[in-house]
Amino acid sequence: KDKYTIAIDGYSACGKSTLARALARRLGYSYIDTGAMYRAVTLYFQRHGIDPGDDEAIRTAVPHIHIDFRPEDNHVLLNGEDVEHQIRGLAVSQMVSPVATRSEVRRAMVQQQRKMGENGGVILDGRDIGTVVFPDADLKLFVTADQETRTDRRLSELLSAGREVSREEVAENLRERDYIDSHRADSPLRQADDAILLDNTHLGLEELIEHGVELVNRIK
Ligand code: C5P
Repeated sequence: KDKYTIAIDGYSACGKSTLARALARRLGYSYIDTGAMYRAVTLYFQRHGIDPGDDEAIRTAVPHIHIDFRPEDNHVLLNGEDVEHQIRGLAVSQMVSPVATRSEVRRAMVQQQRKMGENGGVILDGRDIGTVVFPDADLKLFVTADQETRTDRRLSELLSAGREVSREEVAENLRERDYIDSHRADSPLRQADDAILLDNTHLGLEELIEHGVELVNRIK
C-alpha cells in the first residue's frame, strides 16, 4: 500500500490543521478539515434560525446541507457557496460545539468524510477521526498544547485576519469547546489507544512538521 490514511485529532487551536495542511502538501495527499464541515453546518443553522436543540428542525435541515472543499484552495463550500471566511468568526465558533453534539449531524458528516477518504492518500483532522471516522487509519496523531499557547495562536490568527476579538473571548471559547467536545455522548474527543501524542507547546512549526514527516516515513 502506498497511499495512507492519516488521522490527526486534538483540542481546539493546538496546531492540528497547520500540521495536517503542511503534511498533505509534502506528501501530495488531500487534506480534509472536518472541523470546517461542522462549522459550515453551524453557519447553515444560524442562517436558517435552527436551534441546535430542535430535533425536528435538524432532521429536516440535514439533507439540504451539502459540503465540499474547493480543490484549488481547500475553501469550504456550503451548498456551493464559499463560506471559508464566515465560518472562522466567533459567532460560528460559539455555536459549533453544541451543533456537533447532535448525532443526526455527526452521522451525515462522518458518512461524507469516509467517502472523501475512501481511496487513501488523505489526511483528516478533527476530534473523532482516529476513534470513529477511520479507526483503522495507518497513522494516528493526537496533538496537544497548553491553554496559553493555544489561546495566543488562535488570537493572533484572528487578529491578523482583521477580526475584533479579545484574548479573554478567545480563551473562553477554547475552554468551552474543549469541555463540550470531550464530554458529549456521541464520539467525544479522546486520544485513540494507538494514537501518538504530540505536544506542540514547545515545538516550532517546522519541528512539528519534521516530526510528522518522520512518523509517516516509519509507517509499514
Ligand atoms: O477543528 P475546529 O476547531 O475548526 O472544529 C470546530 C468544532 O467542530 C469543534 O470544536 C467540534 O465541536 C467540532 N468537530 C467535531 N468533530 C470533528 C471536527 C470538529 O465535533 N471531527
